Amino acid sequence: MKKIKVFSPASIANLSCGYDVLGVCLENIGDEITVKKTKNKGVTIKNIQGQNLSTDISKNVAGVSAIALLKETNIDYGFEIKIKKGIKPGSGIGSSAASSAGSVFAINKLIGEPFSRKELIKFAMEGEMIASGYRHADNVAAVLLGGFTFVRNSVMHDYFKLNTPIELAFAVIHPKIELKTKDSRAVVKKNVTITDMVSQSANLGAFVSGLYTENYELIGKSMNDIVIEPMRSILIPKFYETKSACLSEGALSCGISGSGPSIFALCKGVSKANNVANRMKEIYNKLDLEYDVFVSCVNDQGVKVLKFK
Ligand code: HSE
Repeated sequence: MKKIKVFSPASIANLSCGYDVLGVCLENIGDEITVKKTKNKGVTIKNIQGQNLSTDISKNVAGVSAIALLKETNIDYGFEIKIKKGIKPGSGIGSSAASSAGSVFAINKLIGEPFSRKELIKFAMEGEMIASGYRHADNVAAVLLGGFTFVRNSVMHDYFKLNTPIELAFAVIHPKIELKTKDSRAVVKKNVTITDMVSQSANLGAFVSGLYTENYELIGKSMNDIVIEPMRSILIPKFYETKSACLSEGALSCGISGSGPSIFALCKGVSKANNVANRMKEIYNKLDLEYDVFVSCVNDQGVKVLKFK
């Protein structure tokens, strides 16, 4: 294999009750990454379509994660990367994760797959480090493993995939303001009370149980964020108005997607998600602000090969 094109999807991190530990992989929206082998060693980024981002490999998340992977190999050739961005940086739906995970997934294929999807997470996390100043694995784990994912310990590289109840569908609105993960993390206070810790861990445990027992009501009521959402919601226009409209339309839950500004609503069934997406539009149509709205089921496959030669 000399050249490969992969599709690396968007993702939602946190899912209200699992800050930095829960993630889910979405369908259809994502980055296309093409990597070809070169005679000269090292990594170059030839071009980036769709967004104005640095092609400097020490500043671009795809370059940084590729270098992290190559440090653990003995390859005597190099790689040229082209990126077609389908996700806007600072949107809260895993833009940096898609480029980081796509880059290491593609290179791993070109070198004969010495690493498993799970092993690639630690390299992709290096991209997250330069994007947000923190090695959070929640988005990259979801993109590489697909489905709902859990990060038990990102230092020990302990991640696993959870069950996906088939009828779950997300409605997502992306208000077109850029909210850098670094800034959104800065508003999160570093201490929580014992009462809040008990409540949040109870919800997280119940959410995971809900996924396995396919108990949609339990999933919805467990996605309750009393710790992070109150601090970050002030950065998102009409957050609580949107949330209350989605819940009254019958969404199971509604919360901040990753570090925002995107808002997600989880629904039972695609048709319910479409109705909820329309309610999101109604709220945002009152504002002088551009937005995108989309509906997605859970992508159980994660990053995938589009073509190779
Ligand atoms: N868990 C990270 C955060 C996700 O909320 O900061 C960023 O997409």
